[in-house]
Amino acid sequence: MSDANQFDTIVLGAGAAGLFHAGLAGQRGRRVLVLDHAKRPADKVRISGGGRCNFTNLETRADRFLGQNLHFAKSALARYTPWDFISLMAAHGLTYTEKHKGQLFCDQKSGAIIQMLLDECHKGSAEIRLSTEISGITRQDGRFVVETSSRAVSGQRLVVATGGLSIPKMGATGLAYDIARQFGHDIVETRPGLVPFTFSGELGEKFAAISGVAAPVIASVADARFEEDLLFTHRGLSGPAALQTSSYWMAGEPLSLCLQTTEDLNAALRATKQDSPRQSFVKALEAHLPARLAGLLADIGPISPEARLADLSHAAIDAFTAFLSDWTLTPMGTEGYRTAEVTVGGISTDGLDQKTMESRHVPGLYFIGECVDVTGWLGGYNFQWAWASAHAAALA
Ligand code: FDA
Repeated sequence: MSDANQFDTIVLGAGAAGLFHAGLAGQRGRRVLVLDHAKRPADKVRISGGGRCNFTNLETRADRFLGQNLHFAKSALARYTPWDFISLMAAHGLTYTEKHKGQLFCDQKSGAIIQMLLDECHKGSAEIRLSTEISGITRQDGRFVVETSSRAVSGQRLVVATGGLSIPKMGATGLAYDIARQFGHDIVETRPGLVPFTFSGELGEKFAAISGVAAPVIASVADARFEEDLLFTHRGLSGPAALQTSSYWMAGEPLSLCLQTTEDLNAALRATKQDSPRQSFVKALEAHLPARLAGLLADIGPISPEARLADLSHAAIDAFTAFLSDWTLTPMGTEGYRTAEVTVGGISTDGLDQKTMESRHVPGLYFIGECVDVTGWLGGYNFQWAWASAHAAALA
């Protein structure tokens, strides 16, 4: 193999983690090559945050992540914090705006973050080869040989950053898991995360009929509980409340919703009953909730929508608001990897060193970013994991 195809580090995947790692490793004096089958680098960064890349979250802590070992991410997250990435952005003249719950968005749009990652790669003389298929990996004389659609390349280190299974249309593949298995790593079963719920039958039709309506709720599945907005859609439930709980949801489990207006609503319905006893129940509800949502809740709750308030006992009103505070429903499923923002599960952290992301089985092999069994909440946590894990591996 000619010298032109021999590197210190080969990075698979020119996404968030791969590009960030390549820049850092290159600037530490390593000869780095990045390979990706896509035509453009970092497409998920491009579309993230509605085009403004929610690049981190100021509330980053290990308990904002899912995974079999919740302690695993602590070391990397502590050694590369949101403020480190903010400093890097500042050095590139990029600014940000803080939105909901510590979420930081780039004022100059996602493309500026990609350009910054590419500039950092350039600074470290890292070479990036796009539109390159990876057909196999072998280990020869302590080096990794990567067979590609153009030519074979070899590296002393192999850093796998090809992400998870979310959005196959954008080029997501299970390559990282295949490589992990090939080198003796376990995979924690994967499933789509941060993904809308789907509903079928009558409830599905009712949700479709009020699609576009949003309401603040407390949504819970198992032990996870999120106070966020819920959005009704033509296929089921979306919005941050649904996306956050979806990462914790297992097929067949119920989802519990508490409409956050419930307590006020009880007092308000009692007062309306006093002042306007002839008013219908659904009309009274419409004064406190979006009209289409009021119609749906009156339809499925324990009180007939047409009932006059005068005919309702306080106990009946209590029963209705109790229903709204624990509305339990079982999704048919989720929209799957087609629209999921992340993949929950992945390469088991048992086989990785938490300080360096290096394989415990094969020296020189690293896994970083979303392919690892570390999955963040909605709100910038997944990019922070991509930066932090890439940084940990670069310092190794
Ligand atoms: P990433 O997916 O970024 O990169 C993987 C790279 O590997 C890609 O370039 C891909 O082409 C390449 N690749 C895959 N298979 C390959 C193969 N077989 N051969 C060669 N190359 C291959 N997170 C967040 O924190 N804030 C946000 O605002 C958003 N928003 C958001 C919106 C949408 C629509 C999605 C789908 C996702 C998000 N995310 C997010 C999640 C975030 O995008 C994700 O967690 C990171 O991009 C993961 O970074 P990685 O580098 O690990 O994978």
